[in-house]
Amino acid sequence: MTHSPSISELNNRLPIDDPEKLLYQIFNQMGPITLASSLGAEDQVLTHMIRSADLPISIFVLDTGRLPQETYSVMSKTQDLYRFKYQVFFPQTETVQAMVSDHGPNLFYESIEFRKQCCGIRKVEPLGRALAGKSGWITGQRREQAITRTQLDVIEWDEAHGLLKFNPLAAWTTEQVWTYIKTHSIPYNILHDRGFPSIGCAPCTRAVKPGDDLRSGRWWWEDPDKKECGLHIHTEESQ
Ligand code: ADX
Ligand code: SF4
Repeated sequence: MTHSPSISELNNRLPIDDPEKLLYQIFNQMGPITLASSLGAEDQVLTHMIRSADLPISIFVLDTGRLPQETYSVMSKTQDLYRFKYQVFFPQTETVQAMVSDHGPNLFYESIEFRKQCCGIRKVEPLGRALAGKSGWITGQRREQAITRTQLDVIEWDEAHGLLKFNPLAAWTTEQVWTYIKTHSIPYNILHDRGFPSIGCAPCTRAVKPGDDLRSGRWWWEDPDKKECGLHIHTEESQ
């Protein structure tokens, strides 16, 4: 089954070059939509757009249990400032217990299979629950972020979940993101000031040098062509 015609129709109908208008129209036309927030800079921009326009779009966080304290700090600050509550999804206790008991707490450094198993249990399975009953989801992905994202569209069909997926900031540059954050005094993760352009779980993220690839501090021991955790699988990658 192909969904291309409806995606191209949406591309013509929706203001894909204007994230604020796009967010307004997707909530208005699509049914229940939710934003996936990692509390990164892009997600903070989208959270500001949603909350300051009071759009009825829920915002969820996949709490892997291994996030840095700085991420919890900005999570707290953001929900206090914008007066809302994140929907928080944890991994299944029994599955995490079995994985850590069998393979140890730092299994992700041992092999790519173990790393993918950990991301699968701590992020991908909870994502399925976060998206249940939704007609679409929104992410903060941008084309500039990674070699795996250079072809990213603003509107995609997410085959894995059978849902529309919106990447309103796909075409934004890092500079646009930070100008927006500073102009609107949006709270952000303090780790961004300490050399972390991209922030995930604490043991799998490190600081990078100025000018390095934005996601080079994520799973730094792996090949850049394969560095996705499974939240964002494109059809050609999953084959
Ligand atoms: S990841 O796949 O490598 O982890 P990245 O950190 O670049 O992704 O974030 C891309 C987008 O995925 C974010 O803008 C956000 O929409 C979503 N995302 C990533 N991690 C989480 C998380 N822990 N909770 C909710 N959404 C997330
Ligand atoms: Fe596990 Fe690391 Fe993936 Fe987090 S990023 S879920 S700690 S492998």
